[in-house]
Amino acid sequence: MAKSKDKTVWFCSECGADSPKWEGRCPSCGAWNTMVEERVSLRKSDGGARMSRSALMSVPQKVSEIKALDETRIHMPSAELNRVLGGGLVSGSVVLVGGEPGIGKSTLVLQNILSIKSRRILYVSGEESAMQIKLRADRIGRMSDNCYIVTETSLENIFRHIENIGPQLVIIDSIQTIASDEIESSAGSVSQVRECAARLLRYAKEENVPVMLIGHINKEGSLAGPKVLEHIVDAVLQFEGDRQYMYRILRATKNRFGNTSELGIYEMCQRGLREVTNPSELLMSRRDREALSGCAIGVTLEGIRPLLIEAQALVSSAAYGTPQRSVTGFDSKRMNMLLAVLEKRVGFKLGQKDVFLNIAGGLKVADPALDLAVIAAILSSNVDMAVAHGICLSGEVGLSGEIRPVTRMEQRVREAEKLGMETIIIPQGSLKGVDTSKLDIEVVEVTKVEEAFRRLFG
Ligand code: TYD
Ligand code: MG
Repeated sequence: MAKSKDKTVWFCSECGADSPKWEGRCPSCGAWNTMVEERVSLRKSDGGARMSRSALMSVPQKVSEIKALDETRIHMPSAELNRVLGGGLVSGSVVLVGGEPGIGKSTLVLQNILSIKSRRILYVSGEESAMQIKLRADRIGRMSDNCYIVTETSLENIFRHIENIGPQLVIIDSIQTIASDEIESSAGSVSQVRECAARLLRYAKEENVPVMLIGHINKEGSLAGPKVLEHIVDAVLQFEGDRQYMYRILRATKNRFGNTSELGIYEMCQRGLREVTNPSELLMSRRDREALSGCAIGVTLEGIRPLLIEAQALVSSAAYGTPQRSVTGFDSKRMNMLLAVLEKRVGFKLGQKDVFLNIAGGLKVADPALDLAVIAAILSSNVDMAVAHGICLSGEVGLSGEIRPVTRMEQRVREAEKLGMETIIIPQGSLKGVDTSKLDIEVVEVTKVEEAFRRLFG
């Protein structure tokens, strides 16, 4: 007979490891102060779980003999989502879509599944009523007869619905709201999230049905719940953006079936999310107005797409003893490094200045090619002279103030040309083999920060 036995277990909220007692430091991942107490009751008969695991013994195969079936992918209606997924949703895969509350995760998923008319889809909502979802569907203006909505938070009931409906795609909104009866602790706790995700994963692999999990993120910006969640799923998509802006960026932070450098850009409109197919136009502030000091346009590469992005800086005398450094959308350590380079190599005394840096559009950029634009924006604000219209920059800045080449320069130059830029400042020798005289943009090659400065401000 099944026995019910309660016990207290300590879980690491970082990696999901468990321990019978509290520890200051997680014995598994080494994180400090992450152990949380949860009551766990195992209602299974003793040893049941262990039995079933070893009963499913698989047979070793030679690599050469494994049949590689062409992974079937479900084509997503949104081209941006499709690209971030690596060309569609792979059958039997589990994809986690994470993001802050209200960023538009439910909208993104609903909008897509309502356009897939050829497949039976089950949308499990633990957060909103069927009525609320219907209202959202009306707002988006799409309907489908093949999409079933159910408001449910019990994992066991969800599997019952799955059995009845036999869906070809399952959506769980959100993983933090569902709970299994087999575990005592409340929904959203480490043990529940871990168990529910593992059971859904098993279902996805056994039935070859893709499952999309929607997940919340915590204050620090990482996915709430144990890190194991990120390890067991096949792909993690982050939906991010700044509340002040209407732009939303979807990026894959992990993808077993594709590239993680791809990026999808959306705009939140009155009637759902709109794909932004030409992001460069949006990421630069309007070009018709007069040039302002402290702004510079950089050409970066996100995935395989070149993007023109505006860096904005404000340099002012420090109001208090300790100068402030504030950065959004760019690595703050990297900005400090660039400030040190400017101080040492170009002789600007920025040590006593407040420096604020912002990347327009709420985008977070990791491409080092933006360095040159960041430096130009800071210098421009410092000397209070605008960077002339039509100039953009692309290049990495090294510690000795040298401008270093970055990848795919030709593609970047062509994008800048296409968008009507007049001049691009790039590292020396990075356009080898390209006939620059044929380009409709002036190419200025520089080797040092000082040269770029002289070119920009005379
Ligand atoms: P939602 O998808 O509910 O966010 P999440 O699931 O990530 O919590 O998005 C909610 C926000 O989007 C809400 O503030 C309203 C806004 N919104 C629009 O602006 N236009 C729309 O068409 C829809 C459906 C939502
Ligand atoms: Mg939601």
